[in-house]
Amino acid sequence: MCGIIGIVGKSSVQERLLESLKRLEYRGYDSAGVAGIVEGRLARRRAAGKIRALEDVLSANPLNATVGIGHTRWATHGAPTEANAHPHKAGRVTLVHNGIIENYAELRETLKAEGRTFESQTDTEVIAHLLDREIASGKAPLHALKATLDQMSGAYALAILVEGEDGLIMGARRGSPLVVGFGEGEMFLGSDALAVGPFTSRIAYLEEGDFVAIDHGSARIFDETGAPVEREVKTVPASAALVEKGNYRHFMEKEIHDQPEGCQRTLAAYLDTLEARAAMPGGVDFAALERIQIVACGTAYIAGLMGKYLIEQLADLPVDVEIASEFRYRAPALNAKSLVIAVSQSGETADTLAALRYCKAKGMKSAAVVNAVQSTIAREVDVVWPIHCGPEIGVASTKAFTAQVSVMTALAVAAARARGRIDADEEQRLVRVMLEAPRLIAESIKLEESVRSIAVEVAKARDVLYLGRGPMYPLALEGALKLKEISYIHAEGYAAGELKHGPIALVDEATPIVILAPYDSYFEKSASNMSEVMARGGQVVFITDPEGQRHAPAGAQVVVTAPRCDPLIAPLVMAAPIQLLAYHVAVLKGADVDQPRNLAKSVTVE
Ligand code: G6P
Repeated sequence: MCGIIGIVGKSSVQERLLESLKRLEYRGYDSAGVAGIVEGRLARRRAAGKIRALEDVLSANPLNATVGIGHTRWATHGAPTEANAHPHKAGRVTLVHNGIIENYAELRETLKAEGRTFESQTDTEVIAHLLDREIASGKAPLHALKATLDQMSGAYALAILVEGEDGLIMGARRGSPLVVGFGEGEMFLGSDALAVGPFTSRIAYLEEGDFVAIDHGSARIFDETGAPVEREVKTVPASAALVEKGNYRHFMEKEIHDQPEGCQRTLAAYLDTLEARAAMPGGVDFAALERIQIVACGTAYIAGLMGKYLIEQLADLPVDVEIASEFRYRAPALNAKSLVIAVSQSGETADTLAALRYCKAKGMKSAAVVNAVQSTIAREVDVVWPIHCGPEIGVASTKAFTAQVSVMTALAVAAARARGRIDADEEQRLVRVMLEAPRLIAESIKLEESVRSIAVEVAKARDVLYLGRGPMYPLALEGALKLKEISYIHAEGYAAGELKHGPIALVDEATPIVILAPYDSYFEKSASNMSEVMARGGQVVFITDPEGQRHAPAGAQVVVTAPRCDPLIAPLVMAAPIQLLAYHVAVLKGADVDQPRNLAKSVTVE
């Protein structure tokens, strides 16, 4: 995690470093810092806490530099204190780092034995010492950097200043992303296109193992062997408007409201609206596939689980879904005739990437459902199926989830048709159903006022249970995840049928139970579970549709009535109420909705 920025500028860089760090806060926000070369000497400013704290430090003590680096941290090694904040410094070297150096403990011991002293508990400080040692031995900076990288194992993206080398920033990447931005007489390094977006749209993405030196007018890039290489410079439109909150209080609120459009744009990429056909570009032969293996983390995992329900039911194609961090280490048995699909909003999640690479090494064809189409995961797969919901800034994923589920739905229909499980008429019907989803999601978002009043009660709870059957089970997991992520209330999602095998013991007057049950083939069973809860004094929040409301067991107190829809798109339509519930509970509790404690948007460490 962590966000990094480096600027070789013609004018003062302080404000631009701050602007970029604010854009990068989604990657971590435990502490922040900047460093620059001022009159030939390195100067740095750091602060524990968010960028705001760093801004205060800088307004009291500005950094008057035209070359500088910056960092916003998500702590891995060492508490989020000022001493552990980046940039880290050793001798002539000051640097910022995103990633984890796995052999740092032994390197640190060796360096200590040589008489070097450490100011922090971070793995990063070791890199600064290693590089300083190489430079002190007489090597030119780039040779010293290569020698340093060769000693490190683990993941890193780096931006580095060297005292005495004014006008130069070096960088390197392995396992964590780094881009080079090309300006007019100015050059940039950043964790992603958003970081350098305000300054340039001309961007080169570094490859694994690359290292780089930027100065005022050029970038010299080298591959992991040290050979000079060219990396294509692309024009990436980083429209500022896409990452503004507009009239909303929080990005999460805006992103919930963005969903009809995000779903529409995403479906448009996979549906032929004129012919009413579903088509997944990329030439995957679904008829020949024996299995699909989905790997993902967090909300993306839940979207993958939803994919399993949809694909198996419609296309009769076996789908395994697994949390990437488990999958990658347990030597899963795989079938080379299966397709691995990595689902990842950021396309940079370390565990998902490792799980994907494991499958590729076993000879599996690969695909990715990603938002960031220039991400590492997108670049490593055979087929990219982008979601088109625009940048997602709120740490709790909302519009990326519905866009991921949109792709899964289109995929299920396309695969069903390719495998002869549905005929052309049924495909047309299902495509028309899908095309209704954006409108119905918009209807569902209109429930915000009634959800807000329910949130007042839920905000008082210590524990909340979410129950659902069929595709409403993954949605129950997602509802619980959203609530705990941003409101810090303990919440569990359960398959409603499992209620009697444990969670029913938790039911009392103080525990709200959110039951997700549109009027579908599971409804009667879910309604029975609801009665079981109510018989034990449980406070039910019943999220259903008008038909479900009519058939609700007597005594259902709190009902949210989402629009009636075909079961195919119910996961999309029912998502907004649970997202809005979590959002309003968090707002009522005064929590930091867009930047919940301890979390980060993009998790590029294991
Ligand atoms: C973090 C975020 C989640 C996200 C998960 C996977 O935990 O807070 O919102 O679902 O990472 O991220 P990805 O970018 O791979 O979808």
